[in-house]
Amino acid sequence: MKFIKILFYLVIVLIAGYFAAIFYFHSRDPLVKWDWKKINTDKVCYPKDFLWGTATAAYQVEGGFHNNNWTWWEKQTRADGRPAILNHDTCGRADDDWNLYPLDIKLMKKLGVNSYRFSVAWSKIMPTPDSINIMALKHYQELCDTLLANGIEPIITLFHFTYPFWFQQIGGFEKTENIKYFVQFSRIVYKALGGRVKYWVTINEPVVLVYSAYFIGEYPPGKQDPKLTAVVLANLLKAHQAVYNAIKQMPGGQEAKIGIVKNIMQMDPYRRYNLLDNLIAYFADLNFNQSLLSAFSTGKFHFYMPGMVNKKMLLPDLPQTLDFIGLNYYSHNAFRFVGDLDKSLTALPYPGEPLTDMGYTVYPEGLYRAIKRIAKLHKPIIITENGIADSLDTQRYDFIKRSLYALSKAISEGYDVRGYFYWSLLDNFEWNLGYSQRFGLYKVNFKTEKRTLRKGAKAFVETIDKWQRECFR
Ligand code: BGC
Repeated sequence: MKFIKILFYLVIVLIAGYFAAIFYFHSRDPLVKWDWKKINTDKVCYPKDFLWGTATAAYQVEGGFHNNNWTWWEKQTRADGRPAILNHDTCGRADDDWNLYPLDIKLMKKLGVNSYRFSVAWSKIMPTPDSINIMALKHYQELCDTLLANGIEPIITLFHFTYPFWFQQIGGFEKTENIKYFVQFSRIVYKALGGRVKYWVTINEPVVLVYSAYFIGEYPPGKQDPKLTAVVLANLLKAHQAVYNAIKQMPGGQEAKIGIVKNIMQMDPYRRYNLLDNLIAYFADLNFNQSLLSAFSTGKFHFYMPGMVNKKMLLPDLPQTLDFIGLNYYSHNAFRFVGDLDKSLTALPYPGEPLTDMGYTVYPEGLYRAIKRIAKLHKPIIITENGIADSLDTQRYDFIKRSLYALSKAISEGYDVRGYFYWSLLDNFEWNLGYSQRFGLYKVNFKTEKRTLRKGAKAFVETIDKWQRECFR
């Protein structure tokens, strides 16, 4: 009798513990699902001085690269015989935006945007560690001047996944002592463009970069080393802090608004009430999202994957090095425990949602979730990227409408979002996936460089137009 009683209590405690754990995991970043049929996505409003723009990155649109870590990567073959870039694609002249930027600014004007986020090419500006290509700097000065003359505010990203090949050869961000080269480059760019540009992004998506380049080896230098992943991420945080301080000390630097861009991809359990799925999703989130968010809110960096890596670092001044936070949002991932840890850590598309061409799902509600989460840093937020790869252009219109609804809802609840940048202005080179993805508001024919506005882009144009007419408050 006594044994049965003990067993009974044990079962009750186990069940309670199970659900308490599930409750803990679910409450960290609760899943949000809306019934879009019942929502009027036209009911939106945004602040008067809101920044509306599109985003690009140098390597993906400019063309004309050489001596760069990605031009090297394009020539590599993996151990299993696959080319480093899908279909052996090479960036080549891409959108030829280096030459066609006046046309691209006209295309921006047609959208009605008032801002443009782009990155500057380190390998073009500093072809060797001790030389500066004045013509390249002049190019970016002219780009900024043309933007400004058209009422479009430039926002610059200093490091968006690519750097000179010489920087990779000396170990890139694997070595703390190399951070000085990035600081030097940033100073040169700020000196040339500081008078024209207010918002500066130091680094685009540090976690995506280290995950892709050092954990799964899909980006150069193509390594698969969890410990090095953590080292490089820690160095990128140090590099951000160093560049922030360096620019602030330059003439006019106090006026610069400097931030970093974090991609938030929610990591959700595949089966809501499976404890192991929740646990895997928790660890994925801890590293992909929380490691960076905690570093910027507490100054304590911790990157931990059981049995693989456990790196801690104190950067007490890091929380003081953000004037704004950039948020990139695309989708969420699902995790299913399948017995083997490695396989369980493979991100799956969330069940029951339509797929984008990238293989992850269409989940606009996630933008609202991501804003709420990043707002915990208590900094002004700019949505520096949000977009969809949709070659058939059948999902883009609704995706934009719904994402902009999610954004408006967050703003109406008091979240301090200052701008929204659609990824991307043009179809472009999608890193290891080459030219297989179509993110552009403008479709690009890469043989003729002809740009054509996609139907789905209307959702963006209409919303900006409505904001100009009605929304000012
Ligand atoms: C990157 C872009 C990329 C986009 C779409 C972001 O992670 O910043 O460079 O093209 O996602 O995949």
